[in-house]
Parts: sequence; C-alpha cells; structure tokens
Amino acid sequence: MTHPSLGADFFEPLYQAAPDPWQFETSTYEAAKYAATLAALPRPQYRSALEIGGSIGVLTERLATRCAALLSVDLSPTAQAQAIARCQHLPQVGFDIMNVPHDYPAARFDLILLSEVGYYWCWDDLRLAQQKIYASLEPGGQLLLVHWLHDAPSYPLRGDDVHNAFSEFAVASQLTHLSGSRNTDYRLDLYERPSG
Ligand SMILES: C[S@@+](CC[C@H](N)C(=O)[O-])C[C@H]1O[C@@H](n2cnc3c(N)ncnc32)[C@H](O)[C@@H]1O
Repeated sequence: MTHPSLGADFFEPLYQAAPDPWQFETSTYEAAKYAATLAALPRPQYRSALEIGGSIGVLTERLATRCAALLSVDLSPTAQAQAIARCQHLPQVGFDIMNVPHDYPAARFDLILLSEVGYYWCWDDLRLAQQKIYASLEPGGQLLLVHWLHDAPSYPLRGDDVHNAFSEFAVASQLTHLSGSRNTDYRLDLYERPSG
C-alpha cells in the first residue's frame, strides 16, 4: 500500500515543537546546499518565481536576490510566519498558504523551485503536481528540483522517486533537461520548458 501525502497535520506539530526542525538557519550542510541550488540557476535574474514549500524562509531570502518577484507557498502557517518576518525587508517576496498541488497559484512563472518537498507527496499528488507545475511554467521557464536521497520510512516517496518521475515526465511533456548533479546526500536537476 502506498502512503498518503503528508499534510499540515504532520508539519504543523513539527514547527510548533521546534521553530527550525531541520536547522536551516545554522546547518553548514544546508548552507552549502543552498549555495549549490543558487549556483545551478543559469540566469542572473528571474521575472517571477514560485517556491513550493518555502518553510521558514531561509532559502527564500537567498533566492529573492535573484528574482524581481517571488511567491513562496507552504502549508504550515507557523513556518510561514517566520518566513514573512525574515523577508520583510524584501518587498518582491509574497507569501501564501497552500497545500500544493490541490491548491495552486493562478499565475505563470519563469522559475519554479521544488526543494525538499516532492517526497512528501504520494504518487497521485506528485503526478498532479507535475501537470500543474508544467502548465504554470511560461515558455522558456525553468524548474529546479533539489532532494535529499536517503531513506526516510515515514515519507511516501524517496528523492530518487521524485527526480526519476520528473525525468520520465520530461520526455512526455517535452521539458528539456538542462543540468543535473548528485552527491551522496542530495540530487539536483534543472529543466526548461521550450520557448517554441
Ligand atoms: C523540508 S522543508 C523544505 C524547506 C525548503 N524548501 C528548503 O529546501 O530548505 C519542506 C517544507 O515543505 C512544506 N510542504 C510539504 N508539503 C507541502 C505541500 N503539499 N504544499 C506546500 N508546502 C508543503 C512543509 O510544510 C515544509 O515547510
């Protein structure tokens, strides 16, 4: 039997018990991964970006320097309250509470970042997310995936499941794979929707 997606009832208690459950603010591993994430983006500046699962806003704040506009969504109000406070000096950043893919912004983006979120979805939600992400990428828009690769039995999927599923989806949807890298801990893949 496949696990259902993990929802607000999983994440809210985590953030209420500890404001930064993954040590995003202090971990040298996360800081290096964030640097690699930003380095994987080929354009110096994006017009309008979407960050799915922005959490407490540590990566959001860094990503915002590359974006004229950035919408950061998360299903945890407790996490997002921290992100709003952290990014209050960045007027280009907007926030919304959404349970993606069942909620999804009615806009098109030239960058979508899915960092450490896809393995919380069940297969059906991952497939629905792929459709919605693709439809909301403007021609020439880019999608960056970043996921941890180790086993977490309480998560519905593994990082490789997410990236392999996007690799298959890319063939069917004609997303172009621009770059990819992996190390022992995480994997990073960049796609682009063709302009034509
Ligand atoms: C492990 S954190 C990743 C934070 C950040 N993206 C990063 O890479 O540092 C995952 C975040 O995704 C959020 N999340 C999980 N499933 C989600 C969904 N279906 N829709 C929106 N946010 C979700 C969680 O609330 C959590 O804040």
